Amino acid sequence: LARGGLPADLAGRHVLITAGGTREPIDPVRFIGNRSSGRQGYALAATALARGARVSLVSANVALPPPAGAEVVGVGTARELRDAVLARSGDADAVVMAAAVADFRPTETATGKIKKTGEGPAPVELVENPDVLLRLSAERGRPGQVVVGFAAETDDVLANGRAKLRRKGCDLLVVNQVGEGRAFGTEDNQAVVLAADGSATEVGSGPKEDLADRVWDLVVPRLAPADT
Ligand code: CTP
Ligand code: CA
Repeated sequence: LARGGLPADLAGRHVLITAGGTREPIDPVRFIGNRSSGRQGYALAATALARGARVSLVSANVALPPPAGAEVVGVGTARELRDAVLARSGDADAVVMAAAVADFRPTETATGKIKKTGEGPAPVELVENPDVLLRLSAERGRPGQVVVGFAAETDDVLANGRAKLRRKGCDLLVVNQVGEGRAFGTEDNQAVVLAADGSATEVGSGPKEDLADRVWDLVVPRLAPADT
């Protein structure tokens, strides 16, 4: 039994989690990045460990202590994250894409620092990054693998979330409402978890560990029968 009599319902399972935010270099000192702290992904790792899982944590630019017992793999860019994920997803029972993956990267990275010329900077040309969640959902590292995405939405959060769930093809999509000091870099998180079967589970504002446990509560019944 893990934690206060809760069952170790992820015992014998391998879960792969991405956390943080990727950085796409412009030159040796500059990058395109985002505000993800990695706290939600690290909370997912800590709670999965407490529920008995073997945890692989692909961590992009996170300044947090590594969860004891997890295999932590540091990555920088979206393409590094994709490679680290695909190298580990083959035997994962569940993959949770909590990382904020940069949608675009500079077409080229300057080898030297770009200097001021007094004539204004040259535009930074961008190209789209690979969509890791889309690929994971389509390919599934193993039969019955549960794939979970995260989305931060504004405006019509539910409609945007439903459309994204369908487009991505994942089993669960954790939709955060963002803006006004919510979600990014804060302790608390408020979300609705949409499932491919049409269900929606609201999770009230609370610590990121609580949202993480609610996500695992929804993952566990969807897992393929355990290997014997
Ligand atoms: N994601 C990914 N690879 C990318 C972009 C996003 O795997 N290149 C994953 C994220 O980790 C997250 C989910 O997809 O789990 C949703 O990310 P989000 O940015 O909300 O979706 P996008 O498809 O990038 O759409 P948008 O244009 O709204 O940013
Ligand atoms: Ca995006």
